[in-house]
Amino acid sequence: MSSPNSRKIVVIVLLSIFAYLLGVITGYFSRPVHKDSSQKLLEKLNRDGDWHLFEQFKEHVDTGYIDKVVRDLTRRPGLAGTPQQKQNAEYIFDLWQQEGLKAEIVQYNVLLSYPKGNHTNKVSLYDTSGREIFTIKPQEKVLVDEEAPEEVVQPFNAYSPSGLVKGDLVYVNYGRAEDFERLKEAGINVSGKIALARYGKIFRGNKVKFAEDNGAKGVILYSDPADYSIPGDERYFPGGMWLPGSGVQRGNVVLVKGDQSTQGYPSTNYSYRPSEEEISKQLPSIPCHPIGYDDAYFLLSSLVSGEVWQDWQGSLNFTYHLTGLVDNRTVQLDIQNENVYRPIYNVIAKISGAIEAGTQTKR
Ligand SMILES: *[C@@H]1O[C@H](CO)[C@@H](O)[C@H](O)[C@H]1NC(C)=O
Ligand SMILES: *[C@@H]1O[C@H](CO)[C@@H](O)[C@H](O)[C@H]1NC(C)=O
Ligand SMILES: *[C@@H]1O[C@H](CO)[C@@H](O)[C@H](O)[C@H]1NC(C)=O
Ligand SMILES: *[C@@H]1O[C@H](CO)[C@@H](O)[C@H](O)[C@H]1NC(C)=O
Ligand SMILES: *[C@@H]1O[C@H](CO)[C@@H](O)[C@H](O)[C@H]1NC(C)=O
Repeated sequence: MSSPNSRKIVVIVLLSIFAYLLGVITGYFSRPVHKDSSQKLLEKLNRDGDWHLFEQFKEHVDTGYIDKVVRDLTRRPGLAGTPQQKQNAEYIFDLWQQEGLKAEIVQYNVLLSYPKGNHTNKVSLYDTSGREIFTIKPQEKVLVDEEAPEEVVQPFNAYSPSGLVKGDLVYVNYGRAEDFERLKEAGINVSGKIALARYGKIFRGNKVKFAEDNGAKGVILYSDPADYSIPGDERYFPGGMWLPGSGVQRGNVVLVKGDQSTQGYPSTNYSYRPSEEEISKQLPSIPCHPIGYDDAYFLLSSLVSGEVWQDWQGSLNFTYHLTGLVDNRTVQLDIQNENVYRPIYNVIAKISGAIEAGTQTKR
C-alpha cells in the first residue's frame, strides 16, 4: 500500500538521483579541453631556474653603478613629504626612462608627522628647586663632510603626540610585555612615570603601546651600545659601522603601517578621511622621543633605586637601576610634533612577463 506521502518521497529521491547524475555528466563534459596547454603553462611556471642565465645576469651587474645610484639618492636627507624626496622620485623616473622602461610618477596626499616649526623637542632633568640641570643635545653631531647638514630634521618619533610631561623615570629594558610584567612582579609601578626603553627586540611602536597600557605618561627611547655595537670593538661611525653616542634612531610609533588617515585602506584622493580628532584616537596618546646613548647616559646614571636584573644591564659603564632619580630629580619631555598632509610620490614601471603578458594589475 502506498500513501500519497510515500509516493512523494519516491519522486523526490528519484529527482535527487537524476540531479546528481546530471551534475556528474555536466562536470565530465565541461572539463577544460586545453589540458595539454595548461599542463605546459604549469611546467613553465614551475621549472627550475637556469643557472646559466643567473651567471649571465651577474656579469652585467655593475657594482660601481649601484654605488653611484645609492650615493646620489642619499647625498641629502630624503624625508617623506620634503622637496628632496620629490627630487629622488624624479631621479628614479629619469633613470628608468633612460633604461627604456615606461615609467610614471603617482602622487599621493598622505598624513605625515614632523617636529613642529621652530620648536626644539627636549628631554631634560630638573632638580627639586626647578632648575634645569641637564638637557639633551638638539641635533646629532655632524661626523663627516655632509652636503646639507641643515636639511637633517631634528630627532623625533613620527606620530608621537605633542605634550609636556614631567615625573620620575623608570627603566623598562626593551619595553616588551614581559619586561613590564617583570616590573609589576617586582612591585614597581610604571603608572604616572616616564618610561625609558632601549631600542631593539620588538618594534618601537609596540614599546610605546605597552608603556601607554601600563599607565606611563611619556616614553624616551634610546639606543644602548649593547645592541648597536660590539663591546671592545671601537669602530664607531665614521671609523666603522657601529652607532656613535650622538646617533639617534628616528622612526614612527604607530601600529598600522601606511597613511594614518586611511588606516587599512588605499590612500587614494577619494578615500574617506576621518576628522583630525578621530585620527588622533588611533595614534599613540603619550609623547615619545628618541635619544642617543651619550644623552641616555645622564638619565640612566641618575637612577638609584633597584639594581637591574643581569639581562637588563646594557653596555654603559655603570650598574643600571630600575627607577628613582637621584636627589628627587624629575625628568621632563617637551614635545611639539604636528601631523600634516603632504604629497609623496611613487615611481611605477611595469615589465611585461612572457607568460600571461597581457594581464595588467589595476592600481
Ligand atoms: C591625487 O590628486 C593629485 C592632484 O591633486 C594628482 O596629481 C594625483 O595624481 C592624484 N593621485 C592619485 C593616486 O590619483
Ligand atoms: C621660525 O622662526 C623664524 C624667525 O624667527 C620665522 O620667520 C618663521 O616663520 C618661523 N617658522 C615657523 C614654522 O614658525
Ligand atoms: C600605580 O600608581 C597609580 C597612580 O600613580 C595608582 O593609581 C595605582 O593604584 C598604582 N598601582 C598599584 C598596583 O600600586
Ligand atoms: C664612563 O663613561 C663616561 C661617558 O662615556 C665617561 O665620561 C666616564 O669617564 C666613564 N667612567 C669610567 C669609570 O670609565
Ligand atoms: C626626597 O624626597 C623625600 C620624600 O619626599 C625626602 O624625604 C628627601 O629628603 C628628599 N631628598 C632630597 C635630596 O630632596
